Amino acid sequence: MKIETIKYKDGELILLDQTRLPFVEEFIVSSDYNRIAEAIERLEVRGAPAIGVTAAYALAIEYSHNKSEEGFYKAYDRLKRTRPTAVNLFNTLQIMIVYFEANKDSSNLKKELIELAQKIHQEDFDSCEKIAQNGIVIFNKPSNVITHCNTGALATAGEGTALNVIKNGFRSGLVKKVFVDETRPLLQGSRLTAYELEKEEIPFEIITDSMAASLMKAGIIDIAITGADRIALNGDSANKIGTYSLAVNSKYHSIPFYIAAPESTFDPVSLTGDEFIIEQRGGKEISEFRMVPITKKTYNFYNPSFDITPANLITGIITDKKFYKFPYNFK
Ligand code: MRU
Repeated sequence: MKIETIKYKDGELILLDQTRLPFVEEFIVSSDYNRIAEAIERLEVRGAPAIGVTAAYALAIEYSHNKSEEGFYKAYDRLKRTRPTAVNLFNTLQIMIVYFEANKDSSNLKKELIELAQKIHQEDFDSCEKIAQNGIVIFNKPSNVITHCNTGALATAGEGTALNVIKNGFRSGLVKKVFVDETRPLLQGSRLTAYELEKEEIPFEIITDSMAASLMKAGIIDIAITGADRIALNGDSANKIGTYSLAVNSKYHSIPFYIAAPESTFDPVSLTGDEFIIEQRGGKEISEFRMVPITKKTYNFYNPSFDITPANLITGIITDKKFYKFPYNFK
């Protein structure tokens, strides 16, 4: 059954609080764009497609409650400043503002904006299905797969991107086991991907990120697949910090490395990943876990949330439209 990551009901947004998983399933219910922006910043809702859908609803809900043009623009500015790397956020905010500006005189605008957010939600759901179908070609035998971060139902409006390719592969008898990178520092792998795989009854083992290379050397891994937060026109892809190491390790061990993402993750202007803004987060995410110190907070910390995998390390990019092979030409 679909995990209800994002739900719109009676003028409010209901978000599954991902910071409490896998232990507690608790929901945040809000119609306040500031609270929803905070949920995005705190990673209570996270994953590039889910962030985009959430922001679209936050804008539509703000306008439907206050019907103020000034309020709409304030909400737009606030949401835009939440997380800089996931391009889906900017792509969906752009769709919403373009519609708003072209239809300011409509007497039905409140309803139309909610319907537009629902359309964005539905489109992301549908993309996940198509990605799973387009991705089945990566399996040429029953395989052990490694993945990083969480790219499933928790990160999207549907069943996921890379994780949905894995789920579909498992249903088709083509995935034997999933090796789940724990994904330091916020453990999206060991908390969230594990939570989803357990629900799907797919066999998995959690490893620390630094174990991947030795498993590859031992011949245990057949395929690596992750999602993306932003894909440049040449195929360079930003994703959770540690993805680049996984791609380098895959290349060294001649293991195919794939990215799966909806086309809403394409950055329409950046020629290469050099143009991406990488989100920097606070040192506390490294010095403590759930408020328990794991080293001295007075030490210096460097915490970039994403890294960029160059296109030449990516064997193929699976989207909702097609399966692209390196060298990339997305037209
Ligand atoms: O910081 P997060 O948890 O939002 O990072 C998420 C990722 O890096 C995902 O791999 C990416 O957004 C793709 S989700 C389908």
